Amino acid sequence: MSKRHVLATGPLMRLVMQQLDTAYTVHRLWETDDPDALLADVGDKIEAIAVGPHTPVDEALMSRLPNLKIVSNFGVGYDTVDAAWAGRNGIYVSNTPDVLTEEVADTTLGLLLMTVRRLSESERYLRAGRWASEGPFPLTPASLRDRRVGIIGLGRIGKAIARRLDAFRVPIVYHGRSEQADVAYGYYPNLVEMARDVDILVAVIPGSADTQGLVDATVFDALGPDGIFINIGRGSIVDEPAMIAALKDGRIHSAGLDVFADEPNVPQKLIDMEHVVLLPHVGSASIHTRNQMGQLVVDNIHSYFETGRPITPVAETPIRE
Ligand code: 8YV
Repeated sequence: MSKRHVLATGPLMRLVMQQLDTAYTVHRLWETDDPDALLADVGDKIEAIAVGPHTPVDEALMSRLPNLKIVSNFGVGYDTVDAAWAGRNGIYVSNTPDVLTEEVADTTLGLLLMTVRRLSESERYLRAGRWASEGPFPLTPASLRDRRVGIIGLGRIGKAIARRLDAFRVPIVYHGRSEQADVAYGYYPNLVEMARDVDILVAVIPGSADTQGLVDATVFDALGPDGIFINIGRGSIVDEPAMIAALKDGRIHSAGLDVFADEPNVPQKLIDMEHVVLLPHVGSASIHTRNQMGQLVVDNIHSYFETGRPITPVAETPIRE
């Protein structure tokens, strides 16, 4: 039997590419000089897409693949895939939830502590020899003691972050689209009101048209001059220039960021701020967790071809009976 055809839109982990190459005929969109010609040539054979990092899978691409059945995304966030269009056209989209939840929550707590206690800056101080020459690193104005955290987006990862903060004895409230019946933390339907009542905001929401620019100047002003903003979700959920202005003017105290509006380009103005903590989108980036995410990319495609269903479809493309 001839092999099924899969389109890979960008370079995926070796673990993924090897398994796909073994089971399918894989077309590497990023390696061709002429993507148009490739799609014209094999577009009607392609039944699955494995989505490479930062590559859009939009209507323009999917509509050229008349036999496309499943788009398997590497990552829990699938903002580069037009899942609504896929859903309307009977195409499944899958992502990689659960396998990265604890890793991303660990990273968030690390980022939070680094930011609150200025740990990156204090390490740079030691490495520059300043401890020996100038004396102890200054006491940090912020502390996790007597602080309240507001989580924006209490989904799977948000809850794993909340569990860790419970162990730190830090009070938690949350904002999201709706109040969750099985959750004891206080709920704020209004983000600005929550920002006014907490000292630290932790954003864990996915990027989408609904969340674009959600955390804006009004939110930062409500958070106030002692406030700290942590973003582990997507850069697009923040008005980045407004955040930079708030940091520069001292209208918020600090920020810890793992995600940016235009990755991997990080605004120089942020890089120049010593007390702000900047990570290069490493939330899930351990070999252990990335292997599990990669395996789920492969398994979603296998599962579709074997059973007619992906393992982890996204909300816009639920399992069809
Ligand atoms: C990945 C992520 O780094 O899962 C996500 O949504 O942001 C990260 O775990 C990213 O998807 C890899 O491109």
